[in-house]
Formats: sequence, C-alpha cells, structure tokens
Amino acid sequence: MDNSELNDIDGLRGTAEAAISAAADEAALEQLRVHYLGKKGALTEQLKRVGGLPPEQRRSVGQAVNAAKQSLENRFRERRESLQTESEAARSAAEVIDVTLPGRGTGLGGPHPITRTLQRVEAIFGQLGFGVAEGPEIEDDFHNFEALNIPLDHPARAMHDTFYIDEHTLLRTHTSPVQIRYMLENPPPLRIIAPGRVYRCDSDVTHTAMFHQVEGLAVDESTTFADLKGVLIHFVREFFEADLKVRFRPSYFPFTEPSAEVDISCVFCSGEGCRVCQRTGWLEILGCGMVHPEVFRHTGVDAERFRGYAFGMGVERLTMLRYGVDDLRLFFDNDLDMLRQFR
Ligand code: FA5
Ligand code: MG
Repeated sequence: MDNSELNDIDGLRGTAEAAISAAADEAALEQLRVHYLGKKGALTEQLKRVGGLPPEQRRSVGQAVNAAKQSLENRFRERRESLQTESEAARSAAEVIDVTLPGRGTGLGGPHPITRTLQRVEAIFGQLGFGVAEGPEIEDDFHNFEALNIPLDHPARAMHDTFYIDEHTLLRTHTSPVQIRYMLENPPPLRIIAPGRVYRCDSDVTHTAMFHQVEGLAVDESTTFADLKGVLIHFVREFFEADLKVRFRPSYFPFTEPSAEVDISCVFCSGEGCRVCQRTGWLEILGCGMVHPEVFRHTGVDAERFRGYAFGMGVERLTMLRYGVDDLRLFFDNDLDMLRQFR
C-alpha cells in the first residue's frame, strides 16, 4: 500500500495549507504551526513513523514528508509576514495623527478671588496715600488684646473665640494688633492699611475659622471722624463701582471711641430686603472708630496732640458682595470650576 502513505501526506498538506490561508491572526497561525509542525504535530508524527516502514517505502515517504514540512514552513512564514503587514497597516490607520488640531494648551491660572479683592483694596487706599504694613499671624496676648484695651477680664474676649497656643501666645483674631506694632515703631503722622489672615474658632455660611481682614489706621494732629467717613464712603463707591447707600451704625469696640459699624445697601436685593441681608436691606462690611486714648497710651503716642481713626473690614465679606457669592466657604473649597469664573 505504498500510495496510501503518500496520499495521507498530500491530504494533510492540503488541509494545512487551507487552514494557513484562513488564519485570522498571528495567534491562530501559531496554534496551527504547533498543530502540524510542533513536537507532537501531525506531520512530525508522520516523520516518526517513516523508520517503521518497509525499506522500499522509506525513501519515497521520507522525501514526501520532508518536502511537505519544508513547504508548510514556507507557507507559515509567508502568512506570518502578511499578517504582520496587515496589522501594522491597521494600527497606523487607527493611530493617525492630525497635526492640524489645536494643541492642548497650558492651563493658565489666575489670582484667587480673595487675592483680587486684596489687590483692589490696596490699590484704592494706595491712591489715598495709605502704605501697607504687616504683622505676624502668631501673636501674643499684649498685641492682640491688652494694648487694644481688652484686659484679661474684658467680656469682649469672649466674642473672639481665640485659638490659643499657650497662655500668652495665640493666632491673631483680627488685624488690629498691627496697629499696635506699627505705632510702637513709627511716630505719627501715619496712614497705613494692614491686610492679612486672622483666625477664630468659628464656622458657618458667613464665618470660617480662617479669614482675611484689612485693617486701616490714620493718625495725625487734625484727624476727625468726618475724615473716616469720607475715606470709607469713597472706598465703598470705588470698590463696588456703584453708588451704594452707606450707613454708619453706632457700635462698640474697646479700642475705639466712638465706634461704628458700616453697612451698605444690600447688593443682592438693592435694599428691598432678602435672605442674604436677613430682610433688613443692609449688609455689614466693617467696624471702625476713633482710636481710644488707652491705645495711644500703650503705644506711646501723645493723645493730647494726636487723633486717629481705625477700621477693620472682612475681606471674604467684601468679595461675596462684589461677586454675588452667597456661601463664604466656597472660597476655600479649592473647586477649580468655581475659581475659574473669576479669571
Ligand atoms: C474686628 O475684628 C475689629 N478688629 C474691627 C475694627 C478694627 C474695629 C479697627 C474698629 C477699629 P469684627 O469682629 O466685627 O471686628 O470683625 C470685622 C469684620 O470681619 C466683620 O465685619 C466681618 O466682615 C468679618 N468677620 C468676622 N468674623 C468672621 C468670620 N468668622 N469669617 C469671616 N469674616 C468674619
Ligand atoms: Mg462685627
């Protein structure tokens, strides 16, 4: 039966060739290669059987198997090459780069709304001749309270919700201690604002534990409450770029006498009365007054010769009102979508 062996080999070769042409990818092709030419592959088995054939068949069958093996190896190589070319072509078609597309751009930041407000406040007071002074955020009892006429047993201390570091050291609860530091080092006449962070153990929609104030201080021989009113009314008009109504409401601070708080007509309802102004039509923006003689005494300023006014405004409050933001805590959430609106 010499021909049957040869027929088997031809049949195997034919099936293998058809399968190679149909292989969909390199993985499928590799499976086929193992199936036919691997150590236990169909053709390899045929080759192993050659030794057991009658001698007259060995030569012709052996040659046929080797020829089939050789030819299949070539088919595999060709098919692999063409599959590789196809998949590379498909990949570069999918990865096509459109060089005419606009670039991704570098994300440009902008000043935080609080920083913007501070810059505007500094610019407006700068035009009125006020310089900028600074003081430490970690303060001592003397500068934050004592020298501002708030002795240890003074009830005003309770209003400040102070973060204490130790008995004498604290996080400043307002920017007023900068008044003290500045007057201790600079003889009058003087005119400064002192912007900065302050801390109170306090948090809700209009209060945060850290916020900013801008202190103002002017001391001269003929300074009056009328000067204070004039400067603050000018400031409000410039800052809000609107002719808002401004009201000075009698108030109390231990370090000023007389004292007032300044309200502006509500920017949300134009004074009609709404949720933000608690139906009053007015919003408080700052505290102010004439420097108390006790403060001058602590800082060595001659109270017979000099008079001064001081004020302290809440920067977050000003920012809320100018930009119509009704929750103060939004400023400190670091929400980029929120902050981007101010660029
Ligand atoms: C003071 O801090 C005084 N030192 C202001 C002053 C200075 C009066 C100089 C006279 C002379 P008051 O505690 O009211 O005052 O705070 C001033 C402003 O800071 C308030 O009008 C308000 O706008 C803002 N403020 C107060 N507490 C907070 C808080 N927790 N979060 C945000 N803003 C606040
Ligand atoms: Mg107040």
